[in-house]
Amino acid sequence: MDNDFHDITVTVNGISYNKRVESRMLLSDFLRHELGLAGTHVGCEHGVCGACTIQLDGEPVRACLMLAVQANGRAIATIEGLAGPDGAYHPLQQAMHDHHGLQCGYCTPGVLMTMTAFLDEHPAPSEQEAREALSGNLCRCTGYQHIVDAVLDAADKMRG
Ligand code: FES
Ligand code: FES
Repeated sequence: MDNDFHDITVTVNGISYNKRVESRMLLSDFLRHELGLAGTHVGCEHGVCGACTIQLDGEPVRACLMLAVQANGRAIATIEGLAGPDGAYHPLQQAMHDHHGLQCGYCTPGVLMTMTAFLDEHPAPSEQEAREALSGNLCRCTGYQHIVDAVLDAADKMRG
């Protein structure tokens, strides 16, 4: 086998993929270019902006700070898998729509993958907790208030 390439198996949004990847390929590039899942956005490529956030075994991680080979054997969730199989929005997607939680939308996939994982762990967050959870995701458009409103509304609805 070529030393610069590795065979990996990853599950992405419930689908298993076997791929040969270059050792140095970033996970964000793998998702976007090898699997065509361009909903994972790339902003800074330095772990700062949060636009590339995905979930790895349920935990939010920055796909620009991982190599594709490090995802071997792991389960990944991306924004493309967030809506239900029938296309129904996740409650946070619906709340982002209802509360105008996005403008250009560049940060939105990262926000959603960060905050859906947060809501799984914190079903009844305070506004301050929601703001802290959001603090690693940069948004140049909204001023954050509408995103926070959406997170609190989604939490409310998810609790029933
Ligand atoms: S692109 Fe990964 S954190 Fe900015
Ligand atoms: S909606 Fe434009 S960066 Fe957040």
